[in-house]
Amino acid sequence: MYQDKKVVFSGVQPSGVLTIGNYLGAIKNFAYFSDAYHCYYCVVDEHAITVRQMPADLRRRTYETLALYIACGLDPEKNTLFVQSHVSAHAELGWILDCYTMFGELSRMTQFKDKSAKNADNINAGLFTYPTLMAADILLYQTELVPVGVDQKQHLELSRDIALRFNQVYGDTFVVPDGYIAKETAKIMSLAEPTKKMSKSDENENAVVRILDPRDTIIRKFKRAVTDSGSEIRAAEDKPGVTNLISIYGAFTGKSVPEVEKEFEGKGYGDFKLAVGEVCADALAPVQAQFARLSADKAYLETVMKQGAEAAAHDAARTMSKVRRKVGFIELKR
Ligand code: TYM
Repeated sequence: MYQDKKVVFSGVQPSGVLTIGNYLGAIKNFAYFSDAYHCYYCVVDEHAITVRQMPADLRRRTYETLALYIACGLDPEKNTLFVQSHVSAHAELGWILDCYTMFGELSRMTQFKDKSAKNADNINAGLFTYPTLMAADILLYQTELVPVGVDQKQHLELSRDIALRFNQVYGDTFVVPDGYIAKETAKIMSLAEPTKKMSKSDENENAVVRILDPRDTIIRKFKRAVTDSGSEIRAAEDKPGVTNLISIYGAFTGKSVPEVEKEFEGKGYGDFKLAVGEVCADALAPVQAQFARLSADKAYLETVMKQGAEAAAHDAARTMSKVRRKVGFIELKR
């Protein structure tokens, strides 16, 4: 852990092909921190198995997610990129923190309620304690800042509460983390049901634009995006479809909402949707090209994973040693 730099940590589940929600809400922002902070970006495969995964798919997506991190501009020399299951301290601290997390707190997590409704035949204990493992991810590295989409806000607040509780019982042990939620892209909505979050596990392919979708697919999906009554291109509460498209267009072009509204004044939904598709496809083209190169080089990805895991394990060991001592475990001298 670099003492001279503050720490950023974030993670993405390799549970599906990543969407522009993951990209705009999280990964695109990760690189902003690479110079000023010591950054850990993790592929959280242990979180992914809270929902049943095909093992071969999980393995492939873990490589893919790491390749996407790099393709989205995260330089492995400047960021610690690693896979969660390669650093056993995550599961270990997760267990310890389970003992400092209340049943009632976990019961209130909206994502648990949503996921239990969706996976009624597999409401396992891991799905329930998932937010504690997330707290462990964050607290292990003495993280100051966690860049995420707004759907993770409740989990983040729980991580803070767990850190505060532990610190209160044992004295200062963990840095209490803050979230970094980019306002305009905090929640990219589904293209089919714009009052719902765009989610990588959505069964309706037309609802999600994936980072790796080919150009014509991206344009077709935006052309089909649900818009609202009326014809004005204006952000408003009663126009969730158009508002979402304005956010996406703004995020890819760096334009503010009023700038986008002005640009499309007097134009129709058809022209606007085509323009959104084009800027999205243009922005993703270099990411896709870089991804294609990287994913063909498994040996390179494994080297990155290995180096990342070694660095992360080394840094996590410091926190673990402190935690073990505080809770009363015996540490044997090596
Ligand atoms: P996950 O894998 O669901 O999503 C990865 C990141 O993408 C963000 N995101 C979105 N942002 C804007 N609009 C959307 N439609 C959208 N969909 C997803 C998420 O907010 C997230 O930042 N529990 C986490 C993974 C995790 C984690 C952590 C994150 C595990 N440990 C520690 C931060 C720190 C999750 O399931 O993200």
